[in-house]
Amino acid sequence: MRLDIISIFPEYFAPLDVSLIGKARERGTLDVRVHQLRDWAYDVHRTVDDTPYGGGPGMVMKPEVWGEAIDAVIGASAIPGGGHVRGSDEDEGRDGGEARATPQASAPGPVESQPVAPGTDAPATVEPTIVASLTPVLPRMIVPTPSGRPFSQELAQELAQEPWLLFACGRYEGIDSRVMEEYSGRLRVDEVSIGDYVLAGGEVAVLVMVEAIGRLLPGVLGNAQSVVDDSFAPGSMENLVEGPVYTKPPVWRGHEVPAVLLSGHHGNVARWRRDEAIRRTVRNRPELAAALDPAKLDKHDRKLLDELSFRVRRKDVAN
Ligand code: ADE
Repeated sequence: MRLDIISIFPEYFAPLDVSLIGKARERGTLDVRVHQLRDWAYDVHRTVDDTPYGGGPGMVMKPEVWGEAIDAVIGASAIPGGGHVRGSDEDEGRDGGEARATPQASAPGPVESQPVAPGTDAPATVEPTIVASLTPVLPRMIVPTPSGRPFSQELAQELAQEPWLLFACGRYEGIDSRVMEEYSGRLRVDEVSIGDYVLAGGEVAVLVMVEAIGRLLPGVLGNAQSVVDDSFAPGSMENLVEGPVYTKPPVWRGHEVPAVLLSGHHGNVARWRRDEAIRRTVRNRPELAAALDPAKLDKHDRKLLDELSFRVRRKDVAN
């Protein structure tokens, strides 16, 4: 997967060099490219913001600078009639991406504005005869903002299927709305919020999203099953948070590991885990428990929910 991130603070993305995501980048599973928005500003002060029309506090990010930056990053395909294409040969090449989370030294203009094959630094110059058989590929654009649609495990899974994501990090009061309007005509654009609170800018939200998406990519986590058992994972964990976990020793400061986990009985362990997930969801996230799909609850789930005084509509309950 290729990820482009445009921000006035590229240094925010240093954490993408470490841990799971850092390893995924080293292996070439993830090709992350961070771009300094100011590289596309055109005045001596490299201004990226201006006062809001209609008055009010704060500043709004200028559409011209964002337009230049996005056009350059997505390549000539942004321009109607442009020729940015990618075919299977180039797809194979995308595992080799080695870009690091540091601002690219690229100046706006000639270098960045050329179509670049994802995962490579080479301009995507293609023979005219090949062009017809290649599919134009554009990124899906994500704009972090507290007024966006909520980020969720489901959205993370959807985004993990994309070959190319472009994150546009706003600061101040946000990006001039015409930028999203303009690119909605060419790309899929989603404004996304990571929670009902206001951050100083989109950078931290992008770190959150990249980690949630990146760990879902094949080969990034050691144990594929752990993704399936995640809190909120579509399937049996939909609308449930995970219960408690334990490791050795069996007794620590007088606290014992629940005996069932030491029993070696897989069926009982699975049932206990589900019970604990239900208990914790009712306690910590009652609004999620209320949204449990009755068709996905068995008799035992219902009995437990009853005991916890959390009744699910009976009429559409499965056995
Ligand atoms: N930018 C500022 N606050 C944000 C939030 N809650 N989610 C996404 N982007 C943001």
